[in-house]
Amino acid sequence: MVEDLPDSEVKYFAYQVKQNYGYDFENYAMSSLKRRLIRILSLYHLPSIEKLLEQIDKKKLDIEEVVRQITVNTTEFFRDPTTWQFIRSQLIPNLVHKPQIDIWHTACSTGEEVITMAILLAEANVLDKAYFWATDINDKVLEQAKKSEYHIRNWDLLMENYHAYQPLYPIERYCVKHSDKFFFHKSLLKNIVYQKFDLVKDVHTEKYDIVFCRNVLIYFNQQLQNQVVDKLANCTKPRSYLVIGSKETIMWCRASERYNVLSHKEKVYQLK
Ligand SMILES: C[S@@+](CC[C@H](N)C(=O)[O-])C[C@H]1O[C@@H](n2cnc3c(N)ncnc32)[C@H](O)[C@@H]1O
Repeated sequence: MVEDLPDSEVKYFAYQVKQNYGYDFENYAMSSLKRRLIRILSLYHLPSIEKLLEQIDKKKLDIEEVVRQITVNTTEFFRDPTTWQFIRSQLIPNLVHKPQIDIWHTACSTGEEVITMAILLAEANVLDKAYFWATDINDKVLEQAKKSEYHIRNWDLLMENYHAYQPLYPIERYCVKHSDKFFFHKSLLKNIVYQKFDLVKDVHTEKYDIVFCRNVLIYFNQQLQNQVVDKLANCTKPRSYLVIGSKETIMWCRASERYNVLSHKEKVYQLK
């Protein structure tokens, strides 16, 4: 079992994957990328990065599956409930009068964050005029998100976070349990478009009222964080919002000068 990898092996992997498959992990944070690669080697009982690349090359291992293993997809409904309270009390009142509300979830994983925002907008009676673009680098999580069905094992955490958020309505207003799954009502999901988008290399020029980029910057090195936050600032409408993850900051990024901090704790920023 491989317990450690030299940085050079990790860089070699990132270089080869970029050249051959177009995924660019070269500016992902070294320590977490290394941890994920060690985990992948152990999962597939492989002795080296060379062998891992060989398996991908011979299509014995699907590159999409490897990407899913590299990128951490952990997510929750109403993750960090006080952030959603803040969005409800401080952001949504400034959006309700707009003819259309445009939202970009830039690393949506299996969709929990998107559904959470849809519930907030439904509570405020403005869901019909909200349009969501929900993107992620990984096809597999997007396939799951599109189904919008979740295993019942996620129920208890949903309830815990939902109650901590102090909702206006019972969750049954939005979803039903059936056998070992729960499903959200189609009316909640009708304006959500899920699409593959790589924050590192893809370009986008639309402007949004809220851009969510939660719990993904943390996997990038400083150079890449700079580049991505610049990109997000260019996609945020004037006086509109950027929400990042609770352990992340844009303080060291060039684009931080373009934002006012609305809440240090909830990591909510407003474009000047
Ligand atoms: C930890 S999840 C965060 C999910 C959700 N935003 C949340 O906070 O609960 C990180 C997501 O970022 C995605 N990701 C990683 N690198 C990315 C990239 N270059 N472009 C777009 N998404 C990326 C992963 O596939 C994963 O689904």
